[in-house]
Parts: sequence; C-alpha cells; structure tokens
Amino acid sequence: MPTTNLEMVDVESKLLIDAIYLRYGYDFRDYQTTTMINQFKNFVASRDYNNIAELIPRVLHSREVFYELLMNITINVTEMFRGPEFYHSLRDKVIPHLKTYPYLNVWHAGCSTGEEPYSMSIFLKEEELLKRSQIYATDINDLALKKARTGIYDIRRMQDYSKKYHLAGGQGSLSDYYHTRYGGAKILDEFRERIVFSKHNLVSDSVFAEMQLIVCKNVLIYFSRSLRDNVLALLTDSLCPKGFLCLGEHESLDYTPVRAMYDVVDESKKIYRKRIQIR
Ligand SMILES: C[S@@+](CC[C@H](N)C(=O)[O-])C[C@H]1O[C@@H](n2cnc3c(N)ncnc32)[C@H](O)[C@@H]1O
Repeated sequence: MPTTNLEMVDVESKLLIDAIYLRYGYDFRDYQTTTMINQFKNFVASRDYNNIAELIPRVLHSREVFYELLMNITINVTEMFRGPEFYHSLRDKVIPHLKTYPYLNVWHAGCSTGEEPYSMSIFLKEEELLKRSQIYATDINDLALKKARTGIYDIRRMQDYSKKYHLAGGQGSLSDYYHTRYGGAKILDEFRERIVFSKHNLVSDSVFAEMQLIVCKNVLIYFSRSLRDNVLALLTDSLCPKGFLCLGEHESLDYTPVRAMYDVVDESKKIYRKRIQIR
C-alpha cells in the first residue's frame, strides 16, 4: 500500500485544484499551497460545508460556485494610489525617461478591479503623458475585470483614496477625476478610454507586447518560486530594452534568474530597469 505524509487537508486541496484545472482550465497547481488552503477553508466555512472535499463536486457541477470560489482564491484586494510613495519614485526616477518616448505602452498585470490602472491613468495625465499612452490592464478574474470596466467605485472609499492621491503627490483634487453617479464614484471617460481591460493568465498565456512600463504588484507573492520565475521571464520578454518593471513592496527580483538582466532603479519601491542585452 503506498504511504504518504500528506495531511487530509492537503490531499483535498490538491484534488480540488486538479478538478478546477481539468474542468475550467485555470491552473493553480503552482500557487502557494498554504495560501490556497486558507482560501479554500474560508470559503468552506462561509458555506457551512464540512470540509474541502465537499466543495469538489459543487465546483465541478456549478460554474456559479466555481466563479464565487475564484473570487476568493484570486484575492482581489486593491485600492487607488496604493503605496503612495511609489508614485514619487515613479515621478522622479522613471517619468523623465518615459518622456523621451513618442508613444507609451503600459501594462498592469494582475489589475484586479482596476483601481491601480485608473491611478496610473490619472498620474500620467498629471505628468502630461496620458495622451500618448496606452494602458493595458489584465487579470485572470472575469468578475474583477467586469467591475474594472465600469470604473465605478464605492463613494465611501474615495475619502481614503483622496488622501492617498495627495500622499502620492497628486497635484489637484481626486474629485476632479470622477463624478458621483449611480450611487458611486465614476471615473471620467477620459481616463477609462486610455485603458484596455482584458483577460490574461500569467500562468498560461504568452508575452503581451513591447511595453515601456510594466506594473505587476502583489501578484507574484501568491506563486511558488518556480511559477514566479516563469512569470518574471514572461514579464521580461514583454518589456522593451530599457523598459521599467515595478513589483509590489514584498516582491523582489533578488535571487531570481532574471536579476542580471536588470538595473535597480529604486530598491525599496521595487522599481527595476531592463538592461540592453549585448549578444
Ligand atoms: C492582490 S491583487 C493585486 C491588485 C493590484 N495589482 C494591486 O497591487 O493593488 C492580485 C491580482 O492578481 C490576479 N491574479 C492571480 N493570478 C493571476 C494570474 N495567473 N494571471 C493574471 N492575474 C492573476 C488576481 O485575480 C488579483 O486580481
């Protein structure tokens, strides 16, 4: 009889992850195991199921249950001008270089519900770069993208976002960039028109395009080391030479295979610049 050291919860999680992959094609097999298990446990508790195993047939037979679970496991927490100090560094150390390009391609990989690309859109407007910028904002999660496309956010969050906008060095008032409608704050069309939201899976989809700036914050932390390395290779291939890569506060290129391909622009803000490769 084969022996295994896996706990029951690990076995159930692996089976669920395989079921999701086989049924829906979403590949979570290389995500951080502990985080995945915690997300499954939370979902199980919220549904009064007894264990993760009970979730497997429900996910297999109901697309609705799967999408609700997906919303939980992809962790869509985000906000406008998140980590506002980052924008100071961007303004001082990156923007002068970006201003030398006639046209800018920016990619927000793992954009969640859109607050991050809208912040970038507003930031680029204030830096007088928006008109020559195209922002691509992608995520694996359809529901998050659907919300992102509306550009409508809870009005109660705007006060906090406004504070962050000022901490980020915003030059006007955040309320200049949205109107209050439909019981929420709707970002003005001028900012939405510069962003293309689309579905893209960093695990299985290919290189996006020639980008001058890639922002991929708070996504790699959920991946295993090997998956993180694969995704970093994809981001590197999507950057033009001398393009900039921005990661989240708790992410880094240190000890990754692509590290030698970058110069550090700002160590603490996790901003890197791709070197020109000499062949
Ligand atoms: C915590 S949010 C980060 C949002 C935003 N970047 C920020 O820092 O505020 C992580 C996002 O990564 C997305 N994500 C997870 N796995 C992904 C994948 N394989 N491909 C694309 N996006 C993914 C999730 O759906 C989620 O919206």
